[in-house]
Amino acid sequence: MRLSDCHNIADFRRLAKRRLPWPVFDYIDGAADDELTKARNTAAFEHADLVPDVLAGVAEIDTSITVMGRESALPLILSPTALQRVFHWQGERAVARAAQKFGLWFGISSLATVAIEEIGAMGDNPKMFQLYVHKDKGLNRSMIERCKAARFDAIALTVDTIVGGKRERCLRSGFSSPPRFTASSLMSYATKPRWALDYLLREKFALPNLDTHVIAGTGQAMSIQSYFTEMLDQSLDWKTAAQIREQWGGTFCLKGVMSVADARRALEIGADAIMVSNHGGRQLDGSRAPFDQLREIADAVGGQIEIICDGGVRRGTHVLKALAAGATCAAGGRLYLYALAAAGQPGVERAIDILREEIVRDMKLMGVRRADQLAIDNLRWR
Ligand code: FNR
Ligand code: LAC
Repeated sequence: MRLSDCHNIADFRRLAKRRLPWPVFDYIDGAADDELTKARNTAAFEHADLVPDVLAGVAEIDTSITVMGRESALPLILSPTALQRVFHWQGERAVARAAQKFGLWFGISSLATVAIEEIGAMGDNPKMFQLYVHKDKGLNRSMIERCKAARFDAIALTVDTIVGGKRERCLRSGFSSPPRFTASSLMSYATKPRWALDYLLREKFALPNLDTHVIAGTGQAMSIQSYFTEMLDQSLDWKTAAQIREQWGGTFCLKGVMSVADARRALEIGADAIMVSNHGGRQLDGSRAPFDQLREIADAVGGQIEIICDGGVRRGTHVLKALAAGATCAAGGRLYLYALAAAGQPGVERAIDILREEIVRDMKLMGVRRADQLAIDNLRWR
């Protein structure tokens, strides 16, 4: 199977599965407990049908939107995801370059394998930094100050990882940050020589936004589940979130909001946006799908705070359904991660271009010339 055989996100998933050691693939593809929520995140889109208008004259359409104060060429954000150097040697650099090429927002994680400063200097497309609030308060301050100096466009405070979700595939494989070559997993790495040589011979794995203060995750291998539980500040509350927003002083998003009450609280503390998200099903299995929750939240705070629907998105129609249900835009992680793992920057560019083409085709077939024309009347729930 080659990159040219990839015509949708599912194809990239298949190619990534062929090219990655299974512990690495399972870290990306896996989720918490029985992985019910991960499955529901995508299935939710199948329970709402699009109702198109026709004869709308759609020779010229505009797929762009403005979100968090910056224009985006598509109503789609590349969500922040950790440890990208492990998936492909080009890591976050590949995603940054692809996002720049297509004029999209993208985010880097606190657990990114490239420094804030390097990403900040790459291109003028909008960038968000995803902040994990650690017990080490000096580290939190350091990351925020580095984002200010690197002129990031937004900070997304992730609020749904107060403890690690039970990642059973990773418990079985022993996947850790950095990856450990245990007896049981050694064979899996050895059978993927291209990945193994790239991992061993190219730039050394590092977490340059954290290793100024902590060795966990770099000098001390740790599972993500344990990292969350041992390193993150479980006392994180609305008062602290408001203080972080003050300290940052820029565009501020809460990532992982699911309840209407919390959406209202986000508005009260002055957040500019919320990512309605359950972390791709990797945290609380049994949590509702972002798309299922979207209408309730849009009815409550739509028009007062920007609403980003994050999770389960694999198709252009998923993006349009999210917009019709009241989202400002959609967002996703695996939609570009499979492609990164499968083929680096060319892979991510192809995946984004496929989604871009689907969004254009689907908007035309829906009879809309602008993304913000989509509305609840374009949807019917079964
Ligand atoms: C993530 N996600 C995530 N979120 C976050 O706030 N900080 C992080 O470091 C990461 N890391 C991460 C790694 C991997 C491998 C995945 C798959 C996901 C969650 C991510 O931002 C997003 O919320 C989900 O990926 C959305 O679900 P989909 O689009 O992957 O279905
Ligand atoms: C994950 C963390 C890093 O989902 O957000 O793996």
